[in-house]
Amino acid sequence: MPINITADNLIYPYFVIEGSGKKQAIKTFPGVYRLSVDAILKDLDILQKLGITRILLFGIPQEKDTQASQAYLAHGPVAQAVYAIKERFAKMTVMTDVCVCAYTTHGHCGLIKPGQTRLDHGATLDALVKMALTHARSGVDFVAPSAMAKRQVVSIRQALDANGFQRTRILGYSAKFASNFYGPFRQAADSGPKFGSRKHYQLRFTRANAALQEIQDDIKEGADIVMVKPALAYLDIVRQVKQEFHFPLAAYNVSGEYAFVKYGAQRGLWDERSMVFEIISAIRRAGADLIITYHAKDIGRWIKE
Ligand code: PBG
Repeated sequence: MPINITADNLIYPYFVIEGSGKKQAIKTFPGVYRLSVDAILKDLDILQKLGITRILLFGIPQEKDTQASQAYLAHGPVAQAVYAIKERFAKMTVMTDVCVCAYTTHGHCGLIKPGQTRLDHGATLDALVKMALTHARSGVDFVAPSAMAKRQVVSIRQALDANGFQRTRILGYSAKFASNFYGPFRQAADSGPKFGSRKHYQLRFTRANAALQEIQDDIKEGADIVMVKPALAYLDIVRQVKQEFHFPLAAYNVSGEYAFVKYGAQRGLWDERSMVFEIISAIRRAGADLIITYHAKDIGRWIKE
């Protein structure tokens, strides 16, 4: 077992859906499910035994519209999940993704005016703030804005403070690349853009240096943790960020990186456990304090063995 990984370095993502007793498999995302709140609570018993204490929730609404209305429901699945989890698992650090791409019919990360194709920045910030406040009211520990909208962190910070949520912290998806590695996630959330691409707001991999500026902006704007996403193709950025800023840093080992490992292991190309340890220890070595990974539960199990 590589010594540089403990359960405390891991964040496990969940996809939350409405209803009860639901566990939906996702075609191209082996071992990952969309779960109703009760099913997540059951799963958390396992997670807790493995010593994993941080989770990240993504909501998947039943219906999408142009305004992302389902993202702000006081009793929507994410709000309910946060509330129920904090009640049953007081020590669990609960984080929620704050972005509307899973909630909009067009699949973009912000709101778009009728007849337009680019994001309406003001309306997008309002939507993200509203969504973050909804999660804060249910008791979330960290909101994680992932829309790559300029000034999203400071806008959310100010709104949280003004509404009495000074203790709600922010995990900024600071340096998020327009990446090919998000495929399985977009299947899970049915959140791929229906036209255009995310290159107007996510970073282009040809301009990786812009990442450092984004990180610096998020730190100035009040982020408590910053993130580089994806992880593997951007380990140089992870390293540079850690060296330059000495700030709590997360890296997102995204769905496509996970799927590579899983499908290769299924085909007998490599040993899954050994491959996962090689990858996760590399992300740690590069400088990530926290790693968001769909492998977290398996790693927790393997560390205990
Ligand atoms: C978008 C978002 C994405 C992921 C999480 N939130 C990427 C995208 O569709 O642009 C991807 C995570 C993964 O692939 O595991 N708000």
